[in-house]
Amino acid sequence: MAFQPNPKQLALAKAGVFVLALLPFARMAWLTVTGQLVEPLAFITHGTGDWTLYFLCITLAVTPLRRLSRWNWLLKLRRMLGLFAFFYACLHFTTFIWFDHFFDLAEIWKDVRKRPFITVGFAAFVLLIPLAATSTNAMVRRLGGKRWQALHRLVYLIAPLGVLHYWWMKAAKNNIGKPLLFAVIVALLLAVRLYWNRAKVQAARA
Ligand code: HEM
Repeated sequence: MAFQPNPKQLALAKAGVFVLALLPFARMAWLTVTGQLVEPLAFITHGTGDWTLYFLCITLAVTPLRRLSRWNWLLKLRRMLGLFAFFYACLHFTTFIWFDHFFDLAEIWKDVRKRPFITVGFAAFVLLIPLAATSTNAMVRRLGGKRWQALHRLVYLIAPLGVLHYWWMKAAKNNIGKPLLFAVIVALLLAVRLYWNRAKVQAARA
């Protein structure tokens, strides 16, 4: 029998995930305001970029984990995890437009168009916006389950774009070890879905 938490345990799990997910932000904020960083801009840009990608992967891992463990309640954490990916993406983007470009829109747009790795990161960020905007129960009802699900499949594009952004940036520095690891993780997380989907279609046909 799969583990099924009672409402109190579930609320506790949600609170725990919320606090844990905020820890990287708290650490970055603490190190910055206490002046412990040699290069705060680079540290925050990299930290927020890393955590955006981690949360995208964690969010994508919920469904396979749920299926393998039969812990259906994990789905109740997925929305929060996805919103944390958006939260860190917003911080990442804010760092870029604020500290890299001081809100100079013309410069920002020039950079987005000129540097392919920024173009790709920007595309991933823009695609995340409708997902965050439709994450409420009211929006699920308004769109209808099927349309909402179709829209949220955009995450299957966003995660590879995030990896490509990372890869491109590191390839310029001849250092693709970590991006390669994330490419494999995202590919596996997407491949397992494809496999299950095909199995479902074949079972329905049979
Ligand atoms: C879903 C969206 C995004 C993801 C997953 C993401 C992820 C990342 C990651 C993992 C890094 C490298 C961190 C490291 O070196 O440890 C990074 C760096 C960076 N990202 Fe993003 N990013 C996203 C969107 C954006 C956007 C929208 C912009 C700006 C328009 C942007 C600009 C940058 C810049 C300037 C760097 C640092 C480049 C350098 O140090 O040379 N990213 N990002």
